Amino acid sequence: METDGLLEAKVTNLIPAPVAVDGPHPGTEWLDEASVLYAGTGTESTARWLRATLGSVLGLPLAPAAEADGAAVRLLLDDTLAAEAYRISVADGRGVELRGGTEAGLFWAAQTLRQLLGPEAFRSAPVSAGPTRWGIAHQVIDDAPRFGWRGLMLDVARHFMPKNDVLRYLDLLAAHKLNVFHFHLTDDQGWRIEIKRHPRLTEVGSWRPRSKWGHRASELWNDTPHGGFYTQDDIREIVAYAAARHITVVPEIEIPGHSQAAIAAYPELGNTDVVDTTSLGVWDTWGVNPNILAPTDHVLRFYEEVFEEVLDLFPSRFVHIGGDEAPKDQWKKSPTAQARIEELGLAGEDELQSWFVGHFDSWLADRGRRLIGWDEILEGGLAPGAAVSSWRGYAGGIAAAKAGHDVVMCPEQQVYLDHRQHGGPDEPMPIGYVRTLEDVYRFEPVPPELSAEEARHVLGTQANVWTEVMENRGRVDYQVFPRLAAFAEVAWSALPAPAARDFAAFESRMTAHYGRLDALGVDYRPPGGPQPHQRRPGVIGRPIEGSPPNV
Ligand code: ACM
Repeated sequence: METDGLLEAKVTNLIPAPVAVDGPHPGTEWLDEASVLYAGTGTESTARWLRATLGSVLGLPLAPAAEADGAAVRLLLDDTLAAEAYRISVADGRGVELRGGTEAGLFWAAQTLRQLLGPEAFRSAPVSAGPTRWGIAHQVIDDAPRFGWRGLMLDVARHFMPKNDVLRYLDLLAAHKLNVFHFHLTDDQGWRIEIKRHPRLTEVGSWRPRSKWGHRASELWNDTPHGGFYTQDDIREIVAYAAARHITVVPEIEIPGHSQAAIAAYPELGNTDVVDTTSLGVWDTWGVNPNILAPTDHVLRFYEEVFEEVLDLFPSRFVHIGGDEAPKDQWKKSPTAQARIEELGLAGEDELQSWFVGHFDSWLADRGRRLIGWDEILEGGLAPGAAVSSWRGYAGGIAAAKAGHDVVMCPEQQVYLDHRQHGGPDEPMPIGYVRTLEDVYRFEPVPPELSAEEARHVLGTQANVWTEVMENRGRVDYQVFPRLAAFAEVAWSALPAPAARDFAAFESRMTAHYGRLDALGVDYRPPGGPQPHQRRPGVIGRPIEGSPPNV
């Protein structure tokens, strides 16, 4: 069934690229219906995942073996390997052995094994009687990630993504060895997480009567009401599904800006001495919103109650508090805010935001968690333990790392996947910077301005997906793929400096990866441009020649 050429292609088509492959050598190990799997201590969850993923689609039930000796597939933990590192050995007559430093490393080995088995392994059911045995060339793969934080941020506030589609995204992350799902749950346009103590957050805050259609400058409206939220059981399920895939879900609850949906639900959260917050409603357009939370004790208590429920649901060490794009105009005009500045002896509104963030930094630290926020939280001073998502470029991340804060690099100029991926007129959502697959492949998360010591504060990197112009999962797929594959390689593989990266070789491996994405049903942007169903009238976007502000 297999030729040597095919096998070689499979080995070299791994994405993200592994650190080292010894092989392929002549010879093949075969898996079939009778192959048994030995699961060493602590490896049962990977065994379950392999059986569920490969069992019916490839006809590989991988029945349990009592002993490692003679088992066609062997799963073992190996404490000589680093936590997320793994080794796959495929040797003559010895089947396939997967070793992981921890269960996480072993799970990434299982992801590699799936790629080695070919695109059929990415389907949900077999499409034909197909082969009855599957060959893997003799080889040894040694692999480990460059960064511990390899993430995707998904904005489910601007457009709600139903639970099952979120679970599908977690599978897509796992297939690319990404391990952080940053869940942007609240914004001006929607509150998406059930909070039992404050039910109006979802009763009122999760629905809007209409939405701006396209870019905020568009004159068009989508008059279909939009909304939805996750119940606490939905969240528990998402977190458990992620954990089974060694993905941490980092929840984001925005304070003090991007809060109009919350204020619409509970008008007393806003600056009531400046605006009539009773008539706000959930925001129906995009951009930076002037309605920010009032710096009152009531608001602090309210959000502590929100975060208490959030902490019960999300075991993540890091909790994201937003902190971006909080215009200070209302605080400047508000006697209440000004009195607070005076009472606290602060220099101005930026320091008031720092006080707000600092309150939650200590509140989270008291509960064994760590605060992370967008890089604006640096303005006015940052609490010592806080970490920063550097989105406005590298500068915030550089300043934060030099001051000893941990950083996740996600500059909008490089890894905002809502931004257009081609400059052509067919691009369905022509917003933001043009950032092609190659641009993302040449993204370097650690800027040269950082010394080796400072660079240790770069926890890793994430790509961000804001969904103002993505009203369904197909639109999200189009923006995210194939660029997430390039991003995953940047986050995982020890690539050379950007200019020295072999994009042609990556593109060639992508030809196999498109087969996997096809089998998974991902509606990616094909290399030649959008398919007819992926196009839509350009009126919803910005002019291509326009400057590239974020939407
Ligand atoms: C952001 O893009 N406002 C974090």
